[in-house]
Amino acid sequence: MSEAQWWQRGIFYQVYPRSFQDTNGDGVGDLDGIRQRLPYLAGLGVDAVWVSPIYPSPMADFGYDVADYCGIHPLFGDLAGFDRLIAEAHRLGLKLVLDFVPNHTSNQHPWFLEARSSPNSAKRDWYIWRDPAPDGGPPNNWISNFGGPAWTLDTASGQYYYHAFLKQQPDLNWRNPELRAAMHDVLRFWMNRGVDGFRVDVIWHLMKDPEFRDDPLNPAYRDGEPEVSRLLQTRSTDQPDVHGIIAGLRAVLEEYGDRVLIGEIYLPVERLVTYYGDNLEGAHLPFNFQLLHASWTAPALARLIEDYEAALPKGGWPNWVLGNHDRPRIASRIGPERARLAAMLLLTLRGTPTMYYGDEIGMENVPIPADQAQDPWEKNEPGLGVGRDPERTPMQWDGSANAGFTTGRPWLPVARDHAHRNVEAQSADPHSLLSLYRRLIALRRTAPTLQLGSYGLVGTAGEALIFMREHEGERFLIALNLGDTPRGDIALPAGETHGRILISTELDREESVQGGFWLRPYEGVIVQLAKT
Ligand code: GLC
Repeated sequence: MSEAQWWQRGIFYQVYPRSFQDTNGDGVGDLDGIRQRLPYLAGLGVDAVWVSPIYPSPMADFGYDVADYCGIHPLFGDLAGFDRLIAEAHRLGLKLVLDFVPNHTSNQHPWFLEARSSPNSAKRDWYIWRDPAPDGGPPNNWISNFGGPAWTLDTASGQYYYHAFLKQQPDLNWRNPELRAAMHDVLRFWMNRGVDGFRVDVIWHLMKDPEFRDDPLNPAYRDGEPEVSRLLQTRSTDQPDVHGIIAGLRAVLEEYGDRVLIGEIYLPVERLVTYYGDNLEGAHLPFNFQLLHASWTAPALARLIEDYEAALPKGGWPNWVLGNHDRPRIASRIGPERARLAAMLLLTLRGTPTMYYGDEIGMENVPIPADQAQDPWEKNEPGLGVGRDPERTPMQWDGSANAGFTTGRPWLPVARDHAHRNVEAQSADPHSLLSLYRRLIALRRTAPTLQLGSYGLVGTAGEALIFMREHEGERFLIALNLGDTPRGDIALPAGETHGRILISTELDREESVQGGFWLRPYEGVIVQLAKT
């Protein structure tokens, strides 16, 4: 593995641009803000920055409704500013990955305006139009992911168009070769500007059942769940022919070499791993979101990791995601103690880690009063807890009025706890979560064993999860006590006599161990085993 790729060795960090750093006082983050904060990211030790959409957009879904794939929204800056951002990232040794949103456009995209103008328009077939059902209703039972029908009637033509998300986000028709060619050119446009790869939005949605058959009902649906859960999306998503489409995207990246293709995929593991492609010609990294849903007990995590490792195709590179802009914050999901263990787990597992901005300081979900809700999903289905604003609040840089994020009025409220939970304060505290992240990242950067070594489950001892990473004779034992009781009895694996604790999640222990060691409640350690 000496020729491992940068996206295998490296650590990814997601920036949600609206919330990272504002420089012009409008309360929304911008490209100049990201550029100003790059030294922070380089200092943290991450390798690649993925930036959520920055394209012109009416912002019905905060940029995931793209009105021009080859431009920059004036809120964020302009193309010259983008070029400055990427130049500075590269100067600091950071890769820059863009969000590519190919499943749908904005309904304000010129392509859709043209498609909608007439059934005979040259771009009509770039979108998905169907005649009404015999009763005049929608063509089938598909439900929008944000609630409500996934079909909207275009009264002028009498046809419905399909939208897996908002009605302002019409789905593109990837069966149309001209559309595919136009989208391939979008990828080239950005790679010509130096972009190092793409995170592809809802990639498992790109192809739909060619016959548009109904999705089956979900027998496990319970009242109070979002409406989309009523159906199993077996016809509207994850179609066999999506893999050819992804291979087509991958081939465009291969024209440039050394770029990464990441796919956003929410599917069970056995379906997820098909997105590597039959001959690994699919996504380099089909995002593995299992830690977003896991129950944080040692047996559950042990099984989940084992199942994932076992499901990977030969040569498929693993990856792990701890948070993103669509799911509750890790610190809120599992509590601040176990958030420290999550950091150690993420950065010691085999596979590329992806961090979400602010998780490195333990940012929590920020409650958003109903009248300040911004997220369209929350507005469509209020009160179910589907809203994504709580995990999208401004980055907490310091203890000043708006946490150093903006001089204006932030688009979402800044967390109350920013007075003490911020980058500045945690940088000064050698025991903070941020200090732990820095230490773990620094170790991973210098230890090929953590980047490339094999993974082996040693076992669980009560709530302690114990596994081994091994590479070229070097072995690290990682032991994480997820429980609230101390463990005095963690034995080194059979045949091992001694080792050295390199890092504890408490950042207060570096010591030799012989035969075994103890763990405090919610403590994790990385033990370098003595060479045999
Ligand atoms: C993805 C994005 C999410 C967005 C949706 C529709 O899931 O991560 O934020 O709302 O796609 O584009």
